[in-house]
Amino acid sequence: MTRERPIGVFDSGIGGLTVVHALMRALPNERIVYFGDTARLPYGTKSSATIAGYAAQITEFLLKRDVKMLVVACNTMAAVALPVVTGLSPVPVVDVLDAGARAAAGVSRVGRVGVLATLTTVSSGAYERALRIHAPELHVVAKACPLFVPLVEEGWLDHPVTELTAQEYLRPVLAQGVDTLVLGCTHYPLLKPLLTRLVSDTTVLVDSAETTAARVAAVLQAQDLCRPPGDMPPAHEYHVTDVPQRFRAVGALCLGGPLPDVHLVRW
Ligand code: DGL
Repeated sequence: MTRERPIGVFDSGIGGLTVVHALMRALPNERIVYFGDTARLPYGTKSSATIAGYAAQITEFLLKRDVKMLVVACNTMAAVALPVVTGLSPVPVVDVLDAGARAAAGVSRVGRVGVLATLTTVSSGAYERALRIHAPELHVVAKACPLFVPLVEEGWLDHPVTELTAQEYLRPVLAQGVDTLVLGCTHYPLLKPLLTRLVSDTTVLVDSAETTAARVAAVLQAQDLCRPPGDMPPAHEYHVTDVPQRFRAVGALCLGGPLPDVHLVRW
């Protein structure tokens, strides 16, 4: 039965668990198979060609697990490798970048949106393109924030170094009068409390994990793919390509609770 099948969610590492966390809250009946390419992260500094090859491999891995939908939780993969994923996939694909852009396009009152993301995502121009599909007149200011991922992985979510770094990154973006900021990387939703303190009360932060969960819910409903409630809570699966030090600590931060058992994938 298609509705019973799991949703495949993938990311360069464990940051994508922020999307899993949002999915679990929005769709508690759904079963999730997560794939994190922890051996090869970060993707955010790699070339498009390299990332496209990785994305193809992961897509094939998840399709073999009979998923009913693929969720590209990594903004960098969504920015540079989405056609590879959609080209291979017979099931619907939802990606974090499109979900964030759709949500942000309708939010700005002044027509100016800031995007915070990795270097590769910003260089690709993918957020500008996606935002302009939904709001052609929008002025988009994209800013690469390469230090945010290591700071989050260090657990420095509310640390003076992170605050100073964020002030530096935000200054040129806020100077352009944006009233909406897209958190365009898996790790950035964890910095929401700190970033909220640094922007004005009227600035809206668009959390791409939450917007992705909302988009997944909409697509499942539209295609009659929602898993009906069962007697038991859904059993999720987690696959990673390496278990580096601090893996569990960062995973728990992203998932908002202890990380369950993970399966190690050897290609
Ligand atoms: N998952 C990546 C993203 O959302 C961030 C981590 C990385 O660079 O691999 O862009």
